[in-house]
Amino acid sequence: MKRLLVTAALPYSNGRPHVGHVAGCYLAADTYVRYQRLTGRDVRFVCGSDDHGVAIVLSADREGKTPAEVAEYYGKIQKEDFESLGIHFDVYSSTSRNPYHAQTSQNFFLELYKKDYFEKKSTEQFYDPVKKQFLPDRFVKGVCGYCSTPDQNGDQCENCGKVLDSTTLLEAKSVLSGEPAVVRETVHWFLDLSRFSTVVEEWLDGATIREHTRNYVKGLLSSGLIQRSMTRDLSWGIPVPLDEPEAEGKVLYVWFDAPIGYISNTMELCAERDGDCQLYSKWWKDDECDILHFIGEDNTIFHCVIWIAMLSAEGSFRLPEGVIVNQFLNIQFPNKNEAEKISKSRGTAIWIGDYIRQGGNPDTLRYYLTAIAPEKSRAVYKPEDLVQRNNADLANTLGNFVNRIISFTKKYCGDSVPRAHSEQLNEVDRAYVELREKAFSTLSQQLDTFQFKPALETAMEFARASNRYVDELAPWKTRKDDMVRTEATLKIALDSIWFLGVVLCPFIPFSSEKILALFGKTLSEISWSDALEPVPVGSPLQEPVIIFQKMEASDWIPEESV
Ligand code: 2FM
Ligand code: ZN
Repeated sequence: MKRLLVTAALPYSNGRPHVGHVAGCYLAADTYVRYQRLTGRDVRFVCGSDDHGVAIVLSADREGKTPAEVAEYYGKIQKEDFESLGIHFDVYSSTSRNPYHAQTSQNFFLELYKKDYFEKKSTEQFYDPVKKQFLPDRFVKGVCGYCSTPDQNGDQCENCGKVLDSTTLLEAKSVLSGEPAVVRETVHWFLDLSRFSTVVEEWLDGATIREHTRNYVKGLLSSGLIQRSMTRDLSWGIPVPLDEPEAEGKVLYVWFDAPIGYISNTMELCAERDGDCQLYSKWWKDDECDILHFIGEDNTIFHCVIWIAMLSAEGSFRLPEGVIVNQFLNIQFPNKNEAEKISKSRGTAIWIGDYIRQGGNPDTLRYYLTAIAPEKSRAVYKPEDLVQRNNADLANTLGNFVNRIISFTKKYCGDSVPRAHSEQLNEVDRAYVELREKAFSTLSQQLDTFQFKPALETAMEFARASNRYVDELAPWKTRKDDMVRTEATLKIALDSIWFLGVVLCPFIPFSSEKILALFGKTLSEISWSDALEPVPVGSPLQEPVIIFQKMEASDWIPEESV
């Protein structure tokens, strides 16, 4: 098995994580990493905050702080909030504080420069005549010239995902002064993406990527790639490492340095864990390691086109094996007729920190966000659904199965796992055991192919079948006159509790830990193939605990968007 480097998109450090972020890529990446580790794979999971760019400068302005202060403040919250949901990265660094990042990014830029990939040219950019400064990216807003959506940032249309510039953003206004932006000449270094069309196309053909992503990137390729400026007129960022007068006061484009953050964060991790940052090459330059990026849909062009072009131009790093893209998650409040975009400014975000502080179970949120994961198309978060699925699926179906079997076994068979005599097994038992084996292979195949939502459904369908199995064999009746039969039913059901404890680890790790603890085991002791191992006859059964509390709708469903 090759080693695996998994990255999750580096979030801009100007806000707290909300449910949309988590559903976008962090939960899927964590679920995959947990699964791969259970199969015995050597995995490193890398993330950190994306601190540069105009978004951070604007937030700093609004909050009366420096960009560095804003980045540090939110970077810390992001790490804590992800951690509170069990999304545990091996490294959560930051593109402004990682000691390797600036130099790695500058070296990357210089390598492309030396290889003559940049064209330096005078170009037209938006300019604010009132504030007397250029207006890169989000400093300007206007109408998308591709799909006519109003109020789009000057870097990318949130509706069609296209990258916008002074020729494709219409009716542009400065975010700083509110005045119409004018166009002025300034010098920048451009990467001609059209030189990489074939490279991107070939990479796309062999890449592990979802079908809609492949089609979207094919669409980008067929409409033609253009030159993109890799530098910006901005004071916050990594200085352009060139000794030329025009480079003064300019920084690398945030989308140039951000993905390089995956590399520099790996360096920081290797320095910390292996004592040598240079060991990062084991993860980035070695054929025996695959690289997988997990991202949200708005990051597609940057990872599947620009990053592939950058990596192949630089030449010494491996191209990613795949890019796993989730679509957007929208939200619908009970008092609203339709779904809306999750947004801080529109007051439609559900914040991870708030959910946890309110006493929310991290696994409930993990469960719900995977159950509705926007893997093939956009999905809608409904607060009342979260409550309903917690109560119906987790508390009633899963929690109840676990608790009633453990309690019943302890009451009538003692504190250890009873025996199932093979001569006692009937058709119902055999069909059920077969179902478990089938569920295991389906689940494994679904997780191998990044189908987290269907995989979770497979596990839950098996939990429902488990309740049906027990209802059909009714041990509470058979115990009156056939203890051998009763023990067989309970033993088979206990094997299923163990099975569910193992296969649900990647999805709901906190609860899996509780299930495994009933058999005296911990997460760190198990592997994926243990799922089908029968629990040893005679091994002790611990006291049952409530795994999922029911949620009261009134506590969890906001009347109005907040
Ligand atoms: O969309 C975002 O939040 C970006 N900061 C993602 C960057 S991903 C990577 F390239 F760092
Ligand atoms: Zn658009």
